[in-house]
Amino acid sequence: MAVESITIRQPDDWHVHLRDGEMLKQVAAYTARQFGRAIIMPNLPTPVTTVALAAAYQNRILEATQDHPDFKPLMTAYLTDTIDPQELVTGHDIGVFTAAKLYPANATTNSTFGVSDIKKIYPVLEAMQRIGMPLLVHGEVVSSEIDIFDREAVFIEQVMQPLLNDMPELKVVFEHITTKDAADFVESQGDNMAATITAHHLQINRNDMLVGGIKPHLYCLPVAKRELHRMALRKAATSGSNKFFLGTDTAPHAIGDKESACGCAGIFSAPHALEVYTQVFEEEMALDQLEAFAALNGPAFYDLPVNQGKVSLVKSNQQVPMTIGQNAMAVSPYRAGETLIWQLV
Ligand code: DOR
Ligand code: ZN
Repeated sequence: MAVESITIRQPDDWHVHLRDGEMLKQVAAYTARQFGRAIIMPNLPTPVTTVALAAAYQNRILEATQDHPDFKPLMTAYLTDTIDPQELVTGHDIGVFTAAKLYPANATTNSTFGVSDIKKIYPVLEAMQRIGMPLLVHGEVVSSEIDIFDREAVFIEQVMQPLLNDMPELKVVFEHITTKDAADFVESQGDNMAATITAHHLQINRNDMLVGGIKPHLYCLPVAKRELHRMALRKAATSGSNKFFLGTDTAPHAIGDKESACGCAGIFSAPHALEVYTQVFEEEMALDQLEAFAALNGPAFYDLPVNQGKVSLVKSNQQVPMTIGQNAMAVSPYRAGETLIWQLV
């Protein structure tokens, strides 16, 4: 008999872009109404590189999520070539920085201040390894010689594996993995390595983005790959392995910035993230693994307690709105206009 409802421990979202200003006010509640905590990515136009910037940003997020007072934004530092290791250590000690994010320079939205060569930040990474502070990695090599569909696989070989050889105790989250190569690599590593998987990479492959007309709202980075990779991600997420956990990479951009001659990368999946993940787990006949992926594996990796609350979803059709927000701030949610079969209660 088909399952009609499911209740799990309240989940967390281990990869979120909440933006700032008016966009923050518009999108934050979608994350806060579902998730107990969220890892807040630091790629603002002025990147979050100091404890003071992170603390101020955290306050703006708390203000934007006042209606969900139990929601906890977990802040991250944006690594640059010149960031001071002491700033990270201090921020981690006083509980402002949960982790630090590595953007290879120019890999994605607001990454121009990212790291140009990982060797330049080895003193920072050594300090993080010493204090057990997780490194969150956007795993793509950006070079004119490397095909965009190969960037993640090349990153494993050229950057991730050498890094782990040099710093075998460093805690690393391979963010938003998109390839079988990454899923296999993560599974082969020790307890210090884990990965987040987005809802959209479990559902779409590159054909969904390109066949029958280009779909700018399905363009994100790392870009969706071919079907065999999507299948491998679904297998990893639902396998019961504690190395994979939920991270939506929800990344709102105004519609005009997506539907453009040079469209921005990012999928705004926050509004129905849990419903989409639940559908995927049901399709894979793995609803019994949803709680571990969404609510247990992440806290275990981050050494945090699990949430005390519960959330329920029921089998009930709902239509995703075409847009959320007005005018210049309007965004197109993931699966806009489509019908979802699960509904968060
Ligand atoms: O698609 C993406 N959008 N990937 C990223 O890595 C960044 C994000 C954003 O901030 O827009
Ligand atoms: Zn991201």
